[in-house]
Amino acid sequence: MDPKTGTENQTKQDKAILQLGDKQFELPVFAGTEGERAIDIRHLRKESGYITLDPGYVNTGMTRSSVCFIDGEEGILRYRGYPIEELAENSNFVETSFLLIHGDLPDPEQYEKFRQELRQHSMIHEDMRHFYDGFPSSAHPMAILSAMVLGLSTFYTESDNPEHDDDTNLTVCRLLSKVRTIAAFSFKKSIGQPFIYPDNSLSYCGNFLHMMFRVPAEPYHVDPEVERALNLLLILHADHEQNCSTATVRMVGSAQTNLYACISAGITALWGSRHGGANQAVLEQLNMIHNSGQEVDRFVETVKDKNSNARLMGFGHRVYKNYDPRAKIIKEACDRLLDHLGVQDPLLEIARRLEETALSDSYFIDRNLYPNVDFYSGIMYRAIGIPTDMFTVMFALGRLPGWIAHWLEMRSDPDDRIHRPRQIYTGPQKRSYPV
Ligand code: ACO
Repeated sequence: MDPKTGTENQTKQDKAILQLGDKQFELPVFAGTEGERAIDIRHLRKESGYITLDPGYVNTGMTRSSVCFIDGEEGILRYRGYPIEELAENSNFVETSFLLIHGDLPDPEQYEKFRQELRQHSMIHEDMRHFYDGFPSSAHPMAILSAMVLGLSTFYTESDNPEHDDDTNLTVCRLLSKVRTIAAFSFKKSIGQPFIYPDNSLSYCGNFLHMMFRVPAEPYHVDPEVERALNLLLILHADHEQNCSTATVRMVGSAQTNLYACISAGITALWGSRHGGANQAVLEQLNMIHNSGQEVDRFVETVKDKNSNARLMGFGHRVYKNYDPRAKIIKEACDRLLDHLGVQDPLLEIARRLEETALSDSYFIDRNLYPNVDFYSGIMYRAIGIPTDMFTVMFALGRLPGWIAHWLEMRSDPDDRIHRPRQIYTGPQKRSYPV
């Protein structure tokens, strides 16, 4: 058995019987390497005329995947089998990206080669710099990021037809390296400062900080603690199996769309406030409580009230019905970073009080609502000097290797077909056009 893909564990183990009227249908049952079980319904419609209805894909497995494992009940997250806690403690973002994309940790030679490839592709085509002139300075950096990543496909047209792109590794390295530069340039554009070109003598995260915070008039030194914090944040965001943006990357990719376009689509999915945009929404919510002087208890009452339409941002998760393991790690790292920088952020105090209040309230307890990855990440980004509207861009930078890993996995999957869900039509029956 291959412990990485679990191929053997996923062979037919049992059958489920579905009774529809007087007919019975046998459906194969599969198990993954961690014992998750699934009923294979792919031939159900052909055999019975029925489809399954699952709005929001709450109970639908779209694929078998060996990239990431989550146990939402137990609060477990592993990349390629490695617990997130161990990667957060010992790895860096480049190494974790290699792990996600290639399936195993790199040996020293592979690591060096990968780092070198990323260094080599850190610049963007000069013509792409001019794209920034066309965006208003008020543009949201996620819109710029998505547009610029799509723009990359116009410069590297060999990737247009993924079936015939022999050098996917080149596309992958270009993306990982250039998205970082595009993100930093978006920030510089938004504050009216000149773009700072990459300095390839720096590490992946060090180079990003350099492009973000250096100004031509002054020297800039990368703070190793900030660099470490950034590595940690990016590692924690690097993958999360079939979330909305990853599923989007797979959905778009299933049409044989090129990787740049798929990642661009993933970025737009991540932008939404129910998904990656929540980190921006958390900070805005904390700011609102701070500026209005509203009591935390009263605010918690508001988010419990269904008529208010408000939610406690950074709380709740489709999969985790326990404390998000990433939130636990970020909470500790947040204290460490703020201590190091000597920052006393009143928003951190509000976040702590909100968490304490929510976790002792039956509304949140009964619904298994715990802090998610976004609850404390924004406070760290803010301490680093990254503005609120760049938070989701940071998330995208982190999630990039995960998106790529899933796209590659999908391409090599023998079950790969265009994604095309069904529906139950509820509109008017046939009627005639009035003449
Ligand atoms: N605040 C208040 N109530 C909440 C919250 C919240 N943050 N999250 C869920 N609930 C309530 C819902 O109102 C619902 O209550 P009901 O059963 O009385 O109707 C119940 O908990 C279940 O919520 P659903 O929306 O059905 O859960 P779902 O799995 O569809 O949504 C989601 C998950 C989108 C993350 C949701 O919890 C949410 O909106 N959270 C706030 C936004 C957020 O932090 N998103 C980031 C997620 S992590 C990520 O994407 C990186």
